[in-house]
Amino acid sequence: MKTQVCIIGGGPSGLMLSQLLHLKGIDNIVLEKHSREYVLSRIRAGVLEHGFAKLMREAQCGERMDREGEIHEGFFIAHQGRLNRVDLHRFSGGNSVVVYGQTEITRDLYDARDRMKGVVIHNAEDVQPHELTSDRPYVTYRQGDDIVRIDCDFVIGADGFHGVSRKSIPKTVLKEYEKVYPFGWLGVLSRTKPVSPELIYAKHDRGFALCSLRSQVLSRYYIQVPLTDTVEQWSDDAFWAELKRRLPDEVSQQMITGPSIEKSIAPLRSFVAEPMRYGQLFLAGDAAHIVPPTGARGLNSAASDIYYLYHALVAHYQQKDSSGLDNYSAKALARVWKAQRFSWWMTSLLHTFPEAIDYDKKLQEVDLAYLFSSEAAQSSLAENYVGLPF
Ligand code: APR
Ligand code: PHB
Repeated sequence: MKTQVCIIGGGPSGLMLSQLLHLKGIDNIVLEKHSREYVLSRIRAGVLEHGFAKLMREAQCGERMDREGEIHEGFFIAHQGRLNRVDLHRFSGGNSVVVYGQTEITRDLYDARDRMKGVVIHNAEDVQPHELTSDRPYVTYRQGDDIVRIDCDFVIGADGFHGVSRKSIPKTVLKEYEKVYPFGWLGVLSRTKPVSPELIYAKHDRGFALCSLRSQVLSRYYIQVPLTDTVEQWSDDAFWAELKRRLPDEVSQQMITGPSIEKSIAPLRSFVAEPMRYGQLFLAGDAAHIVPPTGARGLNSAASDIYYLYHALVAHYQQKDSSGLDNYSAKALARVWKAQRFSWWMTSLLHTFPEAIDYDKKLQEVDLAYLFSSEAAQSSLAENYVGLPF
């Protein structure tokens, strides 16, 4: 087979790029390791920055998001029994975020790829990029007993944190930066009315908690737990009791509980791989960087990678201008690191750190006090939360 751009990974990054390129007449193939059912069964976060929502519309995939997603113009930070509202709209110059599940984003992107007869190959095993530093790279994969070869101009590594793309960059070239946090988030999805129409991030001595939602009948809640905890240790009753303990009374008294329909523990990690280009291979999204979920930046730092790559590839094919591709890694990383900083700051501000000394705890308190007393600090939070410009 032959194509212009071979995209490894059929998550939101790979599908979005595939869709945008196809709309500009650039031929591409997506290779996904898993079945579509498997990809769509993964529960992911649910906050989209406005730039990502714009990209969905540009990709002609924004219709359902605009119909079913909720515009949120603020959220709360709960601390010492009180709710403090962060007015995103006021402090970000009129911007907002869209609450819409990332799983639904992926579903909408698959539907769009089907409508346009885009090529997405599922259950592609042993995907392997080759000859990346030549001008004739190719990708192989196995389907049953057959090895299939795809010749292409460019390979896009959009295969997530555990993918093969990043691993095909020699260790002598790649520098990896990593920070692992000493706790995880226990998340519960339940078919109950959300306790608050806006998200509540709670800082509590017993640990962080988050009240989020997918719709007016579907809630998503999280609590900080030690990394040694297992899902089996947490009955639904124990989860609800602990969540309520970490929230102000006025919130926990309103909480409607119910059976969990999904329960899982996710570790918190920050990670960046540099550079994001190796020869004809370009990394995008979780393949190159991940953030702890506290700042809701995961998909959103993938969005700018896709935006830069899309424009760079269009300029390459339509104007024979390769400067966007040459600058891609530096440009993408500049925004990636800003999202890293913000996610680290939100995580540091709101969690209980087992190793923290009294001095650290005081600083955390004063950071929160400063935030609620300073419009400048709230502006900084708001502009990062709604998403820095691409
Ligand atoms: N070959 C082909 N596909 C692969 C391989 C491989 N070797 N390894 C992984 N994949 C697939 C995965 O099955 C997954 O569907 O690549 C896809 C990567 O998708 P994500 O992990 O969702 O990464 P990305 O598309 O960059 O999305 C980034 O979306 O859901 C969020 O938490 C995620 O916020 C992050 C953002
Ligand atoms: C979620 O709804 O899953 C969610 C929302 C906000 C976050 C993280 C996760 O910061």
